[in-house]
Amino acid sequence: MNWLILTGIVVILLFSFVIFFGAPFLPTLKIRESDVLELLSLKAGQTLLELGSGDGRILRAAAKKGIKSVGYELNPLLVIWSKLLCWKYRNLIDINWGNYWHHRLPVSDGIYVFLLNPYMSKLDKKIEQEINKKVRVVSFAFQIPNKKPKTEKNGMFLYVYRPERGIGK
Ligand SMILES: C[S@@+](CC[C@H](N)C(=O)[O-])C[C@H]1O[C@@H](n2cnc3c(N)ncnc32)[C@H](O)[C@@H]1O
Repeated sequence: MNWLILTGIVVILLFSFVIFFGAPFLPTLKIRESDVLELLSLKAGQTLLELGSGDGRILRAAAKKGIKSVGYELNPLLVIWSKLLCWKYRNLIDINWGNYWHHRLPVSDGIYVFLLNPYMSKLDKKIEQEINKKVRVVSFAFQIPNKKPKTEKNGMFLYVYRPERGIGK
């Protein structure tokens, strides 16, 4: 019984400590997955980067279209769980355990985030500083401060970043 309580406490801690580094786990609704991919407009063979990849549902939706993806996830339980769920698409999906603020953004054609308001400015700076090619960025629910989205669909905001010049038109 003590082990059961201890396990419960560890699970709760693993799901809650992430709020010091980003958004807690709240998956994108299944019915919104197609909106994410539609806004990102990636083709088979291109690469999607997901910052905070949760249970990997967006990565799997992308893989079904032949899109490669890289996910970063801080919660080790979600890393294990998403790797299991994504096993079928392991040749297209690369899930990394880690804090995305501590990693340089890998080269990608599109980025998907479901963050929280306090992190949006930091994200904006990181993208501007680290990309070296044009990238489409979709943010669920939260907008990048002082930047006009290219378009919006069902609470998702699309931005286009270009290297050095920052956000595109
Ligand atoms: C709101 S959830 C979104 C999950 C997934 N992107 C989706 O849309 O279904 C945010 C995810 O980011 C993870 N996360 C938060 N901060 C992070 C960080 N600094 N580095 C890596 N993952 C982080 C959380 O553990 C959580 O799984």
